[in-house]
Amino acid sequence: MDALDVLNQEHRHIQRVLQLLERAVAKGQDGEFVSASLFVRAANFFLTFVDGSHHAKEMVLFQTMVAHRLPLAPGLLAQVSGEHGTGSEHAVALLCAAESMLRGGETDPARMLGAAEDWLRLYRGHTAVEEAQVFPLARRLLPAGILDRMRTRFARIEASHGSLAEASEALERAFLPVRPGRAFRGPVCSF
Ligand SMILES: [Fe+2]
Ligand SMILES: [Fe+2]
Repeated sequence: MDALDVLNQEHRHIQRVLQLLERAVAKGQDGEFVSASLFVRAANFFLTFVDGSHHAKEMVLFQTMVAHRLPLAPGLLAQVSGEHGTGSEHAVALLCAAESMLRGGETDPARMLGAAEDWLRLYRGHTAVEEAQVFPLARRLLPAGILDRMRTRFARIEASHGSLAEASEALERAFLPVRPGRAFRGPVCSF
């Protein structure tokens, strides 16, 4: 698995989290109860693993593409790099709104749901652009040896943040509702 495979695989993990968050937002907008603590966890995942780890790896890729003078569309890297910053701002807004709900400072989930929607909307378009325009160019024009060295730098980034794959799987489990057949069946209290 080379550096570009790592980034693509991370996109799949992130997309699964997006789908779960999207469903939670839809439930909240329908007036159903949504857990603010799950939104806090999602925001922390975006800040630590998406921004801190995935985006940091992509910045290594972008800088390498520039250093190798790859024929990128004008403004493309500025656009995707700028979206990393905007995504981080949306994640902070989501964290603040969800924490306020959790502390009882807010009872209307509208601000929390709106911040989650901002993040979802931005990130779907962002990932699509990277996969359609950035990664294929890097795949075609960056030598295999460069991608190998990049993989080593990715491993260093991952070492300081932890595994994005494991974090997304833990978050997915947290979002999934408890199925009736898997409910806790511990001892029944007799008092
Ligand atoms: Fe990105
Ligand atoms: Fe990405």
